[in-house]
This record gives sequence, C-alpha cells and structure tokens, in this order.
Amino acid sequence: MEVTKVVIPVAGWGTRSLPATKNLPKEMLPVYRKPAVQYVVEEAMHAGLTDVVFVSNQYKRVLEDHFDRNLSLEAVLKRAGKYDLLRQVQEVAEMVNIISVRQKEQLGLGHAVLCAREVVKQEPFAVMVGDDLMFSQEPAIQQLVDVARNEHMPVVGVVEVPKEKVSKYGIIQAEEFAPDLFRVRQVFEKPEPEDAPSRLAIVGRYVLTPEIFDYLEKLEPGHGGEYQLTDALQALAQNNRLLAVKMVGQRFDIGDWVDYLTANIYFALKDEDLRQDLISSLEELLPCAQR
Ligand code: UTP
Repeated sequence: MEVTKVVIPVAGWGTRSLPATKNLPKEMLPVYRKPAVQYVVEEAMHAGLTDVVFVSNQYKRVLEDHFDRNLSLEAVLKRAGKYDLLRQVQEVAEMVNIISVRQKEQLGLGHAVLCAREVVKQEPFAVMVGDDLMFSQEPAIQQLVDVARNEHMPVVGVVEVPKEKVSKYGIIQAEEFAPDLFRVRQVFEKPEPEDAPSRLAIVGRYVLTPEIFDYLEKLEPGHGGEYQLTDALQALAQNNRLLAVKMVGQRFDIGDWVDYLTANIYFALKDEDLRQDLISSLEELLPCAQR
C-alpha cells in the first residue's frame, strides 16, 4: 500500500487561540522561526508524502501563499546579498505539491476530511492535523505509514495521556497484538475519566483508506454538534478495520497555550546560537513569575 497524499485540515476557527487568530490562521502562528504548519508539511515531506491537500477556507489564503514563491521578496533578498535567507524562502515553495480544497462551513474534522474526497480518489492517504506538531527521530507519520503498508489496514496514532485529560480526546479500547501495535475494538469521543476504557488517546496522525469516506458521508452530527472523524473511526473499528500505533516523540497542540509556548522554547533551545542567552533570560524571569 503506497501512500503519497496527505490531507491537512486547516479550516477551523481557532477560537481557543483568540485574539491572536482573529485574522491570522492558527496554523500560521510562529513556532520559533517557522509557522506551525510548516513543521507538519516538513514531517510529511520527510516521510515521502509528496502531495499535500489543504482543507482550507476563504480566510486562510496566506497559508497556501506561504508554500508558494514570493518573487518580490526573493528579488529584495538577492539585491541585498542575503543568499541564505533567499535559499530558505525558496525551499519552502519547493517542498511539496500543494492542492487546496475548501470547507465551506466549519462542520468538524470528519466533514473537513470528507471535503478532500474528490482529490484523494481511490488511494490510501494520510491525515495530519495542521495544529498538532510531533517530533521524533524518524518523521512521526512514518510510524503509521509503515504499519499501514505492512498490514493493509487503516491506522491511527495514539499516545498515553494522564487520566484527567482523557475527556479532551478520542479514546480507544484495544488489544495489543505486537509491541505498541493495537487492534482497535471501540473508540469513545471525549469520555469522562471514569468511563474511559484506557488512557490511549487518538492524536492528529492517521493513515486511512477510501472506505472512510462512505462512513463519513453517513455521519450524523456527534459531540459538540460537529461531524466527528472519531465516529467514522468507530464504524471502522466495529468492522475490525482499524489499528492503532502508540507513537513515540514529543507532541505539541498549537491550540493549547502551554503547549504552544513550550514548543517555542523547545525549538529555541535546540538552536545553538540562542540556547545560552535564552536559558539566562529564563533564569532571570522565573523568580519574578513565582512572586
Ligand atoms: P481543532 O478543534 O483543534 O481546531 O481542530 P479549531 O476548531 O480551529 O480550534 P478551536 O477548538 O476553535 O480553538 C483540529 C484541526 O482541524 C481543523 C482545524 O483547522 C485544526 O487544524 N478543522 C477543524 C477543520 O479544518 N475544519 C473544522 O470544521 C474543524
């Protein structure tokens, strides 16, 4: 099973991140030197996914523009002899093929994925949520692509979350049949901690097959009145057609302020040129914060 396409839904309102996201898409918020979504696209590219399908809306054109050439800026950088920056802005435009479809109403993640049906056609495809950053040795989505290829089954990425956080996620009930590899029996959308069958939470990484579209089409509005991808995954699970991989790596939800700010510090600390100054600055700041 070859996977070359990835659907990246980016059409949501980003209300948790207001007022920052009043006119700036959440996925374009900078994480250190790059917009958040660039990390997601780079992860896809490093896993050999060549065609990115953004599920977008009319207010988010800036997102597609980021992955296009900006000839005026390039001319300025060339004239100024800033060749390193020139290379960086050109590289972003050459990373992947960008295809864009519109979600005309923000009816939920399940609906957003369904909007990509005409482009995905009859091929297996990855889904990477545009505000969920994951970092590991190999690209995080590669862990799922490898399993989907070997097992010929749809696969979701899961991580273990603390009990008090299960009500923020889709939680799986599953059997482990190989290390960190599960056969999913049921999926529960945002259960109360006492009702959750496990602490294995679905995160924003999936490899799906076109069969998901038939389930998505039949969906009724679920939790929060939205068309939930989780409900379609539950239908797959009931037909024994869903696996889960416990993912390794560092994860940041850009819609969560603590995660967002931590992601910025994480990347800045990885930069040799900045690390020492940042640590000194944080050391000065911490005693003030504790007052
Ligand atoms: P979220 O629920 O995190 O994003 O969806 P949101 O709805 O934009 O944010 P809040 O909760 O109001 O702060 C995860 C991803 O799915 C996309 C979002 O853009 C985000 O990247 N999404 C969500 C869609 O594309 N369409 C939707 O209808 C909902």
